[in-house]
Amino acid sequence: MTYTICYVSSASRELENNELENLFYEVQTNNDDADITGVLLYYYGNFLQVLEGEKDILLDLFESIKKDKRHKNIITIFNKQNEHRIFEGYKSGFSIVKTKSDLKNLKEYLNKTKDTTPFSTSVLGLLEPFLI
Ligand SMILES: Cc1cc2nc3c(=O)[nH]c(=O)nc-3n(C[C@H](O)[C@H](O)[C@H](O)COP(=O)(O)O)c2cc1C
Repeated sequence: MTYTICYVSSASRELENNELENLFYEVQTNNDDADITGVLLYYYGNFLQVLEGEKDILLDLFESIKKDKRHKNIITIFNKQNEHRIFEGYKSGFSIVKTKSDLKNLKEYLNKTKDTTPFSTSVLGLLEPFLI
C-alpha cells in the first residue's frame, strides 16, 4: 500500500522562467530526498501534480503546498491510500513535465501501465486537456 495525492491548481500570476526553474529544482530535490514519486506538470498557468509516498510525509507536504502563495484554486482530485505507486518506474521516480515531448512520453508510459494499475487511466483522463 502507498499513499497518493493528486491535485490541479493555477499559478497565482504569470511565473517568470527563473521562478519556475527554482520551483522545479526545489520540488525535484525535496521529493528525491523524501522518496516521493510522481509528476509535476505546468501548462499555460496551470499545475497538475501527482505525489506518491508515505502517508504522513505526503499529508504534511500537501499542507505546505496548499499554503504556497505561488498557486491558488487548488482542487484535490485524489487523496487516499492506493494499491501501488505508478511512477516508481518512470524516469527516476519524480519528474517535471515541461515540454510536449515530456507529455507524450508520460502518456505512453501511462498507457503501458494502465492494465495493471487503474489509477493510470484516471491520470490519463486528467492529462487530456494538457495534451491538445
Ligand atoms: C505547484 C507547487 C507544487 C509543489 N510541489 C512540491 C513538492 O512536490 N515537494 C516539495 O517539497 N515542495 C513542493 N512545493 C513547494 C512547497 O509548497 C514548499 O515551498 C516546500 O515544501 C517548503 O516548505 P516549508 O518551507 O514549509 O518547508 C510546491 C509548490 C508549488 C507552488
